[in-house]
Amino acid sequence: MDASKIRNFSAGPAILPPAVIERAAEGLKELRLHGHEPTAPGIGLSILEISHRSGPYDAVTKAAERLCHEVLGIPQTHQVLFLQGGASLQFAMVPMNLRREGKPACYIDTGAWSTKAIAESEQLGPTKVVASSKGTGFDRIPQMPAGETYADASYLHITTNNTIYGTEFSEIPRAEGGVPLVADMSSNIGSRPFAYENIDLGFAGAQKNLGPSGVTLVFVRRELLNEAPVGVVPKILRYATHAKNPSLYNTPNTFGVLVLKLMLDWLRDEGGVPAIAERNRRKATALYTVLDNSSLYTPHAQPGSRSQMNISWTLGGAPEAERDALTKQFLAGAERRGLSGLKGHRSVGGVRASIYNAFPEEGVHELCSYMEDFERGA
Ligand SMILES: Cc1ncc(COP(=O)(O)O)c(C=O)c1O
Repeated sequence: MDASKIRNFSAGPAILPPAVIERAAEGLKELRLHGHEPTAPGIGLSILEISHRSGPYDAVTKAAERLCHEVLGIPQTHQVLFLQGGASLQFAMVPMNLRREGKPACYIDTGAWSTKAIAESEQLGPTKVVASSKGTGFDRIPQMPAGETYADASYLHITTNNTIYGTEFSEIPRAEGGVPLVADMSSNIGSRPFAYENIDLGFAGAQKNLGPSGVTLVFVRRELLNEAPVGVVPKILRYATHAKNPSLYNTPNTFGVLVLKLMLDWLRDEGGVPAIAERNRRKATALYTVLDNSSLYTPHAQPGSRSQMNISWTLGGAPEAERDALTKQFLAGAERRGLSGLKGHRSVGGVRASIYNAFPEEGVHELCSYMEDFERGA
């Protein structure tokens, strides 16, 4: 099928705006110094073949950093870093750097990704789960625990959007008692305005709303960088190392950082986070409306905890074998209409539509029409 006709619902690496892919392809051929306009001076070399310590790359990484503040809204109190190792490395770097003697690391468990983060912390020291929605199959964001449950914590860790279960914090909570708040924002960063000032350390693998895999955006309140980690932490795994010579301690993913910058240029040109947030709200509302009016589809996430980025549902009808057959039939029919990447994660089953910033509104309407047709047996 013609690639331009495929609606890509992949959870990540995910759809990128065609304009970003085009500009990235140009940068592969020849990096332009000041943006992507054809009049911008080219440097005669590809982004892939220049030093990360060269002037042209310095311009790329500085622009990307600036856009993280200006477009995403990360406050100037925070140092922006572009690291490697995915969000998963952050699951380990966070406890390595932020654990304090005698103070447990505290987590709110919303499934899969927080569970992995908890497992890394447990290897390093005392770890406490202070709220969890495990009992209800991670179908919601648990109530914010009382301050006293984590009063003695090294930090409190949340996952702002669970990519698999399709649950999302409606607001960034504020941790009480001066406990640092850590936020894994991999699957909803840049999707709407966030109270970044509540977050002391945030991170996001880029491969959903920020570009390609292989770059992780980290932002950390500068004061935290001055506190020495407990125990031995290899130099390369310390935030302070990367902050000292911003994102240049070792050779960064230079192409990935360029694409991240292009994504933020695109986001700014689309009207910024407020405009994209409005579009995302419309997209999610359209899909949830179909789900809520259906007797065939059951959304996994409960109202009040529903993600605007990843929407997971199952198809009704017992017994299980019948349900599976129906789901397969649904997915095959979707593929025939060019609706791709809708298979749910194995832990939830069913269907998942990931509708990140770059996913077009028309594509959601096409999915909604297909779902209605399928339910009617058309
Ligand atoms: C919320 C969340 N956190 C962490 C990860 C892991 O990211 P990575 O594969 O970049 O390590 C993912 C991946 O999809 C995710 O969705």
